[in-house]
Amino acid sequence: MPEASFSRADWSGALWRIVRVIALRARLIAKVLFGNLRLTHALRGDWRERYERSRRDFFAADPVFHPSKQWEIITRFYRLVLRAWGLERFKSTFGRFLSTYEPDNPWIFEAVHHLYRQALAARDAWGLLDTLEEPELGAGTYVMYGGRRLSLDLLQSIDELYRVREASGFERDDRVVFCEVGAGYGRLADVVLSAMPNASYLIFDLPESLLLAQHYLTVRHPHVKAALYPESSEAVKDPLAPGAPRLIFGLPHQLREVKRGSVDAFVNVYSFMEMSRKQIETYFGIIDRLNPGTVYMKQHKREANIYDRSLNTGENYPVPQGWKKSYEGTSTLFEHVFEAAYRLKPIRASSFE
Ligand SMILES: C[S@@+](CC[C@H](N)C(=O)[O-])C[C@H]1O[C@@H](n2cnc3c(N)ncnc32)[C@H](O)[C@@H]1O
Repeated sequence: MPEASFSRADWSGALWRIVRVIALRARLIAKVLFGNLRLTHALRGDWRERYERSRRDFFAADPVFHPSKQWEIITRFYRLVLRAWGLERFKSTFGRFLSTYEPDNPWIFEAVHHLYRQALAARDAWGLLDTLEEPELGAGTYVMYGGRRLSLDLLQSIDELYRVREASGFERDDRVVFCEVGAGYGRLADVVLSAMPNASYLIFDLPESLLLAQHYLTVRHPHVKAALYPESSEAVKDPLAPGAPRLIFGLPHQLREVKRGSVDAFVNVYSFMEMSRKQIETYFGIIDRLNPGTVYMKQHKREANIYDRSLNTGENYPVPQGWKKSYEGTSTLFEHVFEAAYRLKPIRASSFE
């Protein structure tokens, strides 16, 4: 058989894996070594006899079946484990080299991204999974997938955009006006602006988050006309005015000033749930007057906000009677999160022209 010719990447990948395994399992390795200080063998006598007999017979047989070099190392470690702990808790000792990763193993983190991506693939009408990637700006956490940076922020934002689209029926080139309260650093707005060349986006948030979003989105989209606070005071009133900026930032109380009927999709993600009942009621009243085409929310199914003494659940948001629920479900990523979309106006073919 010809010897394999390894590339530099093969070598560095394999060596890095050894370092990773040792670093990850340092505590386990230390405990095994410490456990071997005991004077007696931990494996019960009858099992030990069977095991030693099988080893003798095995090594006397055809060497082609003997362990590869890699498994020689692993079986040496196994023998130390057997001496220290016998078969006790074997899934958390041997198992780590057989199948089951630790909950905090980085491969589990990678796996979550891969699974979430796969779950979204069937809804990826605009091919965003293959064209967008987590921006380096802001030094977020990501894994590499197919040569692209993939993050949970990016995947959640793509997921949310498609939910809004599925509830509203717009197309990629449509002039859709989004309005988000509590946008954080603007991850969803970034995906919307990257995916939809004619969309505009209003953000209303507390000063700290507003600062982040203004910085993030103007650096990410330098050619998009933006109205920052406080210069945005006129722009917030009418996002459909001729020549209006595509990015408009305001403080929460300015939401009251937005022209009725000028917003197509109103969004709130992980934000209403952290507010007092009075704040939630106030926002729902303002949204109702604003009369957007669609309202999309994503919140914890049950949030006990002990600071404001408000219990916010999927059932008790003060949704006005005229809102028609068009979607409700558990989020793809988290079992404790629900998503809901409401139509306030019928979808018309000309809605977004
Ligand atoms: C947990 S973060 C979620 C951020 C973003 N939606 C995301 O999922 O990445 C909650 C957001 O709500 C905003 N927020 C909190 N209280 C608010 C209020 N009274 N009015 C508007 N936004 C508020 C915070 O500033 C923050 O941006």
